[in-house]
Amino acid sequence: MFSSRARELEISGIRRMFEAAPPGTINLGLGEPDFSPPAAIQEALFDAIRKGYNHYGPSAGILPLRDALAQRYRRWDGRTARESVVVTEGGTEALAACALTLYEVGDEVLVPNPGFVLYAPHARMAGAIPIPYPLDEANGYQPDLEALESRITPRTRVLVVNSPSNPTGSVYAPRVVDRLVDLAREHDLTILSDEVYDEILYVPQGHRSFWGRYERVVVVNSFSKLFAMTGWRLGYLVAPPAVAQQVNKVHYHLVACPSTPVQMAALAGLSAPPRETAEMVREFRARRDLFLRGLKQVPGLRCVIPEGAFYAFPRIDWGLSPLEAAQALLQRGLLCTPGDSFGSLGEGHLRMSFATSRENLRRALRILEEFGEERTSRGRAAP
Ligand SMILES: Cc1ncc(COP(=O)(O)O)c(C=O)c1O
Repeated sequence: MFSSRARELEISGIRRMFEAAPPGTINLGLGEPDFSPPAAIQEALFDAIRKGYNHYGPSAGILPLRDALAQRYRRWDGRTARESVVVTEGGTEALAACALTLYEVGDEVLVPNPGFVLYAPHARMAGAIPIPYPLDEANGYQPDLEALESRITPRTRVLVVNSPSNPTGSVYAPRVVDRLVDLAREHDLTILSDEVYDEILYVPQGHRSFWGRYERVVVVNSFSKLFAMTGWRLGYLVAPPAVAQQVNKVHYHLVACPSTPVQMAALAGLSAPPRETAEMVREFRARRDLFLRGLKQVPGLRCVIPEGAFYAFPRIDWGLSPLEAAQALLQRGLLCTPGDSFGSLGEGHLRMSFATSRENLRRALRILEEFGEERTSRGRAAP
């Protein structure tokens, strides 16, 4: 009765844990800001609805928003015009539409390991074969370039990259970005670059987009994190015009068009960047510092310092699988995501989102410290 495509899809580990969590649980499981959308953006949404922007719009998005987004990407390539922009129902739909547009049946697609949960299933849904390449924990989760190159075959078509990264929080170093572009050029690959955390950064060098560095790049981005509007579902992609045109056809057949009033609201946010966005990023930085300082005190746990996004991806040495550890912590009122939900190299890790209040983070740290003490040799030797 069901297609093999559907049968073979697994429910993401993130969702599974979330749905099992009792009320009152401290939630370090989900990847979304705990802020409300900035006031001016909320107002712009109400205003758009009242003014009658409640109908279908162009499938690639309303023109002023495409123009504003093109303007934003002219920072990386001065020639970027609206023809390069397709507005989507979140980064998720942008990634799915790109997969269906760029992957041919039997193609190999390089995806980061550990990496965001959609890349491999999207490849499979499109009939392609995801080939994981390692991010190197010992090197701050930068892509392991040698290992990546060794996985390229004549069937490799696309290289998926994600910086700042979910789940590791790593930000690719400028020389790594350059090298990835060289590899793509040498091997005739398209780069699909997921940059949804491009504004949530804790490093002085800032974000280095793949846009403008290579002719065959598609960048996926989103308003979800930037304006704390994950539930409003708005994202976009930037691609060479010929590619954008092809993706737009697929996108039309998936969703017809993105939400018109939500586009009006996002446009207001781009036209006058709200102070709340900068405040949110400052708060994330303070929480990161607080949380990472606390994690250092947790027995049996080691963590690379995240440089962007809002995730810590510690390695746990508690004699438990990530799922067992996550289940045990859930019983104590703390929700984390098992690291192997993000690929085989997430084995031995938990992902913890610090996009929650400082008070919640302090409570989470107390639970972790107590649990770590019980699980490490000191604790295990005790009767
Ligand atoms: C790396 C990454 N890409 C894409 C998305 C999709 O976000 P959205 O569909 O809300 O834009 C997420 C959401 O968590 C993400 O972490």
